[in-house]
Amino acid sequence: METRSLLLLLFAITSLFISAIGGQLYLGRWKLLKRSIGISAMHMQLLPNDKMIMFDRTDFGPSNLSLPEGKCISESHNTDCFCHSVEFDSINGNIRPLTILTDTWCSSGALSENGVLVQSGGYRLGERVVRSFNPCADCDWVEDANGLITPRWYASNQVLPDGKKFIVVGGRYQFNYEFIPKTSSSDQTLYQLPFLKETRYSPLIPNNLYPFLHLSADGNLFVFANDRAILLDYVNNKVVKNYPVMPGGISRNYPSTGSSALLPLILHGNFSIIPNAEVFICGGTLPDSNQKADAGEFIAASKSCGRLVINTANPSWEMEEMPMNRVMGDMIMLPTGDVLIINGAAKGTAGWNSAREPVLSPVLYRPNTPKNNNTSRFEIMSPSTIPRLYHSTAHLISDGRVLVGGSNPNRKYNFTALYPTELSLEAFYPPYLSSNTSRPSITAIVPGVNLGYKQKFSMWFQLKEEESLGNIYVTMVAPSFTTHSLAMNQRLLVLAMDDNGVQNVAAGNNYVVHVNTPATPALAPAGYYQLFVVHEGVPSKATWVHIK
Ligand SMILES: *[C@@H]1O[C@H](CO)[C@@H](O)[C@H](O)[C@H]1NC(C)=O
Ligand SMILES: *[C@@H]1O[C@H](CO)[C@@H](O)[C@H](O)[C@H]1NC(C)=O
Ligand SMILES: *[C@@H]1O[C@H](CO)[C@@H](O)[C@H](O)[C@H]1NC(C)=O
Ligand SMILES: *[C@@H]1O[C@H](CO)[C@@H](O)[C@H](O)[C@H]1NC(C)=O
Ligand SMILES: *[C@@H]1O[C@H](CO)[C@@H](O)[C@H](O)[C@H]1NC(C)=O
Ligand SMILES: *[C@@H]1O[C@H](CO)[C@@H](O)[C@H](O)[C@H]1NC(C)=O
Repeated sequence: METRSLLLLLFAITSLFISAIGGQLYLGRWKLLKRSIGISAMHMQLLPNDKMIMFDRTDFGPSNLSLPEGKCISESHNTDCFCHSVEFDSINGNIRPLTILTDTWCSSGALSENGVLVQSGGYRLGERVVRSFNPCADCDWVEDANGLITPRWYASNQVLPDGKKFIVVGGRYQFNYEFIPKTSSSDQTLYQLPFLKETRYSPLIPNNLYPFLHLSADGNLFVFANDRAILLDYVNNKVVKNYPVMPGGISRNYPSTGSSALLPLILHGNFSIIPNAEVFICGGTLPDSNQKADAGEFIAASKSCGRLVINTANPSWEMEEMPMNRVMGDMIMLPTGDVLIINGAAKGTAGWNSAREPVLSPVLYRPNTPKNNNTSRFEIMSPSTIPRLYHSTAHLISDGRVLVGGSNPNRKYNFTALYPTELSLEAFYPPYLSSNTSRPSITAIVPGVNLGYKQKFSMWFQLKEEESLGNIYVTMVAPSFTTHSLAMNQRLLVLAMDDNGVQNVAAGNNYVVHVNTPATPALAPAGYYQLFVVHEGVPSKATWVHIK
């Protein structure tokens, strides 16, 4: 019975994914939203009020915005009165300058259970800072100079199941991890993680920065660096599993910079059945590509991708090839459960002036297209006109578009370099926004948007008058902290629907579907999620829900 409904669900999803093949309309489109947002969007995090927090770095000279209230930053004989962080309202497009006074270059972050962005590390005076940003109309950054025990430059963060604590892993010369926020000022516990030392290409080439982190369905942490991976029981500081080496000899982490995403967690109606947690890693390049780029040789980036189910007894990599080579690609989960691979270059590596041949076309990856069908899981989308190389970002917003910003924040915001500093902000419209099938709209969540675990709730939605009911599923997306081609904390769950399916409840094409919330906080850490209903491959706009 369970197997049958799982198969039916898989079949439903698969047929949806396959249905969107065709002409130009189906390749997505682009729109330039702002020629300049004043800063370069090197880091992005969406808050539950639909405002996107963006920032670059504070030590690089004149952005195109001044700090609010005449403030200035003084660091090593430099006075900088320019702004390096903004809040972008994804609903009305307004921009509000924000105040960050310490350097956030190559930092990390996550959203906490109460919707506060907790962000950590950076460079020099910013390297041990933990900053927080409350989602409210006139809030600004609050900085704690001694929030971290040790400097964290190029570390990765993961929100833990309770949504209140975060693990911060690695960083340059940091073969260890710690937790934030500290429970007391005497909490100075640093946990060693030799794996981060072992996975360097050489002591001089630490090409395993910004390790990929994914919280597995059992609450342990998947950590990937270079081409190796472990499952870490971070509570007991124990490696509980060593995964097979990813084939191909490609390095996937900074500056060889591929990308990694946890594929949709497909939840079962029976709460005791744990879904597969499957990691998907694409792109990157050979480990010495950065050194070669410094010497003027820009070698081809990798096409290869691998999938690994991390919570089975004998995991093994399933390898695939993208239609194009890509380094510095971002992997963004769309509300449908498809993966958008966007930004980056076909040659070279991360680093200024270290890449060539910008890849302007995103690729859509449909994870559930069966392998034995010659239909590719990949589809090439319409190109942008703006190269998005080093320090570019992408982030899903609640209306189903993907915001794209940043690239090459060169020293002093050089706009005449080969690949100039980019202050522009674009939106990519995935193919579903050009579909002839109209968007469903969520009209109510009953009993309400505050959810608990192992519960049922009802989602009411409406279709256009003339539309007949097709395939329906419901997804829940955790907003990510995106930087350096890595969407930290990105998570998408396909919720289990009741056996009695979707009911037509009233005139005006109104329907209700009964769904289960996730069983445990390991599947969905406490906090805010965007809830979508997908009808015939076209998602609604999101309704924010909270789970704890
Ligand atoms: C493969 O996918 C195509 C496109 O959706 C479909 O028409 C075809 O029936 C599939 N073939 C097999 C063997 O599953
Ligand atoms: C900087 O802002 C001014 C207006 O304030 C605008 O005219 C100019 O184009 C901007 N420059 C860049 C590079 O964005
Ligand atoms: C739920 O799954 C568990 C574990 O597979 C199984 O033992 C149990 O019988 C299932 N419950 C129902 C109601 O099917
Ligand atoms: C897939 O393509 C190969 C070569 O083009 C062909 O031999 C094979 O029959 C095809 N399989 C299916 C399921 O269409
Ligand atoms: C900007 O970059 C170009 C090309 O590298 C260089 O020639 C120029 O001097 C730079 N301008 C500034 C202001 O640094
Ligand atoms: C979508 O609708 C337009 C206008 O009616 C039509 O020209 C187009 O062929 C349709 N596309 C598909 C794939 O049905």
